[in-house]
Amino acid sequence: MEHQKQVELLQRCLELTAREEQYVTDDEFLVPVDKYVDRERFDAEVARFFKRSANVAAHSSELPEPGDFVTRTVVDTPVIIVRQKDGRASAFINVCRHRGATVELRERGRCRRFVCPYHAWAYETDGTLAVVRQPHGFPTLDRAKHGLVRLPCFESAGLVWVCPEPGAVPGAPDVPTRAILDELHGLGATDSVVFASTPHIWHANWKLLVDGGLESYHFRIAHRKTIAEFFPDNTSTYEFVGSHVRTVLPRRSILDLANQSKDEWRIRDHTHLVYQLAPNGIVLMQKGYFDLLITTPLAPDRTRVDLMAIVPHPGPDGFTAKSREFWEANHQFTKKTLDEDFTLAEQIQRGIASGANDRFRFAGFEGALTRWHQQLDSKLTAAYG
Ligand code: FES
Ligand SMILES: [Fe+2]
Repeated sequence: MEHQKQVELLQRCLELTAREEQYVTDDEFLVPVDKYVDRERFDAEVARFFKRSANVAAHSSELPEPGDFVTRTVVDTPVIIVRQKDGRASAFINVCRHRGATVELRERGRCRRFVCPYHAWAYETDGTLAVVRQPHGFPTLDRAKHGLVRLPCFESAGLVWVCPEPGAVPGAPDVPTRAILDELHGLGATDSVVFASTPHIWHANWKLLVDGGLESYHFRIAHRKTIAEFFPDNTSTYEFVGSHVRTVLPRRSILDLANQSKDEWRIRDHTHLVYQLAPNGIVLMQKGYFDLLITTPLAPDRTRVDLMAIVPHPGPDGFTAKSREFWEANHQFTKKTLDEDFTLAEQIQRGIASGANDRFRFAGFEGALTRWHQQLDSKLTAAYG
């Protein structure tokens, strides 16, 4: 992020904090609760927002060397992501072209070729079909057309993005995504490694998990046992970059900036930044590290969340016992804080089923929620009428 932009964002937060004011951007907005439970709506959202988009699928540090791979389910497609000899990451559907077995069963590893466990067809790491056992049985097989199916894939700011539908999007970020990734790179996100990764399935609609990250009205109350003390009450700003949202949460220490030259202002020193990376990534950026959440919608009331702690590269000798202890404690604290959010989301999901509310009410200072929901609605309308 350019220094000028950091100053602009900090200035706005400093003024709000000093005046104990909220960032009010919208009128109240009413949202029908059906959109969190309706199966048809859910299917349309998955098709429109997730299946035909690049999704955050891995962190670059999971694939340090050529031949390093991870297997993932991106939305509902089994995928291999593998580092190529030229250093680029590629993604393929993890399905054999003979009779459809899963080619690579391991979650991660390093290999020269992927060998199918059913009849041992083998694929190069660039997807090419290399070996067909007893090929005389396949006289009409055109090997050139039977490599692993390639998926659009790109990598930037330490994030590997994959679209689970072949050819649905270009294998390069669009303009807003480029801008937000450049910003993350500029904030130092790139030279880092995954310290820990914790998966959990939450019984809540995927939008409820996003909603909680788009406002700070709940901080003082819901996070009173964890992070509330670090932040002024209900003070945050937001900005949309295409479909992505950057939320700035000033820490109390932002008031110190009033006595500092603007040349010395650094946004990571006095704020937490929350990036909602459409459609499925959330980056929680703090002073010395960040967390990456990868969300996967499973059903109208079920969402998988992979919480990854991404920390500065420890150097060739790896983590010391002391640094490991520090980052582990940090990870557990983040997990505890997010559990507060996602437990509330589960309660809300149950509450919807009770019929107590037919609409939710977003306040004027919850304008990011209003705008985000309006954006989703208009995209669905454009796609399905
Ligand atoms: S299904 Fe993979 S080799 Fe037969
Ligand atoms: Fe929260």
